[in-house]
Amino acid sequence: MSLLDILLVLFSLDIRTTRAAASADLITASKDNSPDCGCYEVSSESSPAYFTYHRFYDWRNLASSPDQFTSIPPRLEEDEDQGAEELADVYQDVLNGTEWNQDWGIMNWGKEATAEAPVRMQNSAANVFIAQRHHNLPSLSPPTLNPPPKTPNPTPPTSPSAPPAIPPSNRPPSSKTSKNLLHASVRFRARITGGPGAVAGLFTFVDDTNESDIEILTSDPDTTVRYSNQPTVDKESGEEIPGSSLPVTGLESWREWHTHRIDWLEGRSSWYVDGELMARSEYSVPRKPSGLVMNLWSDGGSWSGNMSVGGGR
Ligand SMILES: *[C@@H]1O[C@H](CO)[C@@H](O)[C@H](O)[C@H]1NC(C)=O
Ligand SMILES: *[C@@H]1O[C@H](CO)[C@@H](O)[C@H](O)[C@H]1NC(C)=O
Ligand SMILES: *[C@@H]1O[C@H](CO)[C@@H](O)[C@H](O)[C@H]1NC(C)=O
Repeated sequence: MSLLDILLVLFSLDIRTTRAAASADLITASKDNSPDCGCYEVSSESSPAYFTYHRFYDWRNLASSPDQFTSIPPRLEEDEDQGAEELADVYQDVLNGTEWNQDWGIMNWGKEATAEAPVRMQNSAANVFIAQRHHNLPSLSPPTLNPPPKTPNPTPPTSPSAPPAIPPSNRPPSSKTSKNLLHASVRFRARITGGPGAVAGLFTFVDDTNESDIEILTSDPDTTVRYSNQPTVDKESGEEIPGSSLPVTGLESWREWHTHRIDWLEGRSSWYVDGELMARSEYSVPRKPSGLVMNLWSDGGSWSGNMSVGGGR
């Protein structure tokens, strides 16, 4: 079994982005950067991008005492892994509470074995848990983006390229149910542990042609991360689409904590580790509002490989 440890996730949600390639945009940028700006600025590659919202999910301190969440649940047997399982009682308050359910949901779909994917796959809430590990981590805090004004900017922007001023109290509707991210700068502070044969996915998704991925294959060297915008395979020929997959090698090990990031802007995706640009693409940049997914899976197919039972703890 592999583990996808997630410490925190940050994303910004955008109505429109500005790629300040032209100097006119830069002038707009500095104007919109004023304390009255009702938007958030993220530096992406060399240009700023403007976002309407930001969210910071910090899962480092979910435990309220040192002895809470100190054990991990036992491995599931075949018949205990059918999708309808509930979370263990100890996690209900956090992983099924009002606050959690507003933005997140735990997937429980599955698929039967096929010739190409010979291992049955089942997502189950019984496989999701919280474990305190007392990591000695540097302190991390929400980035200070351009804060929204304390009171909404009363003057609507006059420049057609200025991002709209949004009152900070306007919460977007739940991203879980409405999959309503349109453009984002998402960062996952995460590490992956365990044996070969699994895929850890950190991605934006609405369908298999509007999807932007970070994938970590535990069969790969632990210094390789794969980036892509879907589709990566031509449905008719079954061939890989040239330029769709961007594996990057020689990174620091994904077994250690790193900040994996996707910037999904209009017409451009870029991927970062710890703030350093690793890959960029203009191929099939998603255009439909999407949700955010974190998963860990294996189906015995050629992409994930096979994982041995108990192979990684
Ligand atoms: C979440 O809580 C609801 C209501 O108590 C319950 O019906 C549901 O099964 C729980 N979900 C999980 C995954 O445990
Ligand atoms: C997104 O989905 C639409 C269909 O709803 C499709 O036409 C388009 O090719 C998909 N991908 C991108 C990058 O727009
Ligand atoms: C995984 O194991 C199954 C047999 O259990 C085999 O059919 C399949 O080819 C294996 N997959 C890979 C990628 O080696």
